[in-house]
Amino acid sequence: MYSEKVMEHFVNPCNVGEIENADGIGEVGNEKCGDIMKMYLKITAGVIEDVKFKTFGCGAAIATSSIATELIKGKTIDEALKLTNRAVVEALDGLPPAKVHCSVLAEQAVKTAISDYYNRLGIDPLPIVGEITEHCEGNCSNE
Ligand code: FES
Repeated sequence: MYSEKVMEHFVNPCNVGEIENADGIGEVGNEKCGDIMKMYLKITAGVIEDVKFKTFGCGAAIATSSIATELIKGKTIDEALKLTNRAVVEALDGLPPAKVHCSVLAEQAVKTAISDYYNRLGIDPLPIVGEITEHCEGNCSNE
């Protein structure tokens, strides 16, 4: 049911924890399943120097958080904003349809943390980050 990649990131997730004095923190949740994801970013000169996460949720939510942090670490904010839930699913070699929404949570967590970064700088994040919605690329069900 789950790819080896998912199992790898579930059993040994990368970048678990918190960042003290993070430059941006994003917390998102899914009302239906109750899972919560929190992402911390350290940003220097527009580059995501460090990222950590804490996820209280299913195995797929842990795996999607883990791979999302790997995908954005060392990248510019602009590159991180291009991270889609589809890219997260692809990087994990697929997810069962009922778990695709977990990847949406990972995309939202990254965007929410970047929005928080801009808010702290006194910059309106909306024109840069856009609306953070539950938009899902792929076969997304939430059962
Ligand atoms: Fe809802 Fe995984 S995030 S079941």
